[in-house]
Amino acid sequence: MTPRDGLAGARQRRLADVVEQRHVIVCTGSGGVGKTTSAAAIALGAARAGRRTIVLTIDPAKRLAQSLGLTSLDNTPRAVKGVENLDAMMLDMKGTFDEVIDRHASDPRRAARIKANRFYQQLSSSLAGTQEYMATEKLYDLHNTGRYDCIVIDTPPTRNALDLLDAPKRLTDFLEGRFLRMFLAPGLAAGRIATRAAGFGAGLFMKTASRLTGQAVLSDLAEFFQSFEGMYDEFKQRAQQVYRLLQSPTSAFVVVATPEVPALREARYFLQRLAQDGMPTAGLVVNRVTPPPPDGLDGLPAKQARQAAGALLGGSADENAVAALLDLHADRLGVTKRERKNIAAALHGIDPRALVEVPLMDSDVHDLDDLTAICEVLLGA
Ligand SMILES: Nc1ncnc2c1ncn2[C@@H]1O[C@H](COP(=O)(O)OP(=O)(O)OP(=O)(O)O)[C@@H](O)[C@H]1O
Ligand SMILES: [Mg+2]
Repeated sequence: MTPRDGLAGARQRRLADVVEQRHVIVCTGSGGVGKTTSAAAIALGAARAGRRTIVLTIDPAKRLAQSLGLTSLDNTPRAVKGVENLDAMMLDMKGTFDEVIDRHASDPRRAARIKANRFYQQLSSSLAGTQEYMATEKLYDLHNTGRYDCIVIDTPPTRNALDLLDAPKRLTDFLEGRFLRMFLAPGLAAGRIATRAAGFGAGLFMKTASRLTGQAVLSDLAEFFQSFEGMYDEFKQRAQQVYRLLQSPTSAFVVVATPEVPALREARYFLQRLAQDGMPTAGLVVNRVTPPPPDGLDGLPAKQARQAAGALLGGSADENAVAALLDLHADRLGVTKRERKNIAAALHGIDPRALVEVPLMDSDVHDLDDLTAICEVLLGA
């Protein structure tokens, strides 16, 4: 065995340890790579290992949601039928933000005022990063219940996988930012509020504000920030606690990618960023890897390859079928080589800790049998 085999072997084994031991597991990666699928499969693995487990999903595909027994966005953990120890829930972003307001507001009237504010309503459902922030908030709640040994969280489809790490800070910066203090300064006329905001180039802020129209903007804005006065510190503290939980060695980030260059590039960047931030990295899952072509045709001279292909087809196939099989084989081989090259390039000079490749299945992953198959690949049967 070469040292390289040793390293590869160790990389293959480590994810199962993470699933058996860590308290919080975050599945992250760029859009559409298989984060929700991986989160559900990992949670299934933790439950099968006898751990009380919950998976917090974000916008799961309908059929996957159904097979987990989820029908609505309601922040309610539901037992997954047929799997012991496993609960699942769908994140309700707006509901979570409302809970955060209820928790931090000094009295119920103030909380109600904020929740009725039109600017708040826009913010809580559309501010970039809000979904990420609410996912971490909910994670922290679930952690505090003490009900679960293992909490697996899925992350929202964003263009940037780093959003999850930046979201708490972005939101608290937004809420306590310098431009905000200017708004709150007594005596500022409504007209000047708008000028100030433009002057500070607060893009995020203005984008949200611009969704509202007319006079309502200014009065709602002013009221919104006034009602938040005195709440920033708690927000900030809570964000720090969440960040510390994510940073603790009982947590683990699983980065998911596909064997395509953009997804792998993002994954590499994210793995580097996790290392930089001192975040506990569990490993990289490369999902939807093209299965290698069947053995037996590689490297054969043309005539023998034709014979072997004919044999694979049962011996009685015509020339066209043999040619088609050889073409398919060559194509597959090409794709496999390209994917191998992409994965090697993405890992150059970095240690993802665990590395697991999950093959492209024949169809979408949407029931417990499909999830079990993925789980067994991820963690070893
Ligand atoms: N190994 C696989 N083989 C075949 N299909 C897969 C595999 N993994 C995931 N899929 C399918 O790919 C689609 C995307 O997967 P999934 O929803 O898990 O991705 P995601 O990263 O959560 O996406 P989003 O960023 O939109 O949330 C789904 O239809 C899923 O069933
Ligand atoms: Mg998803």
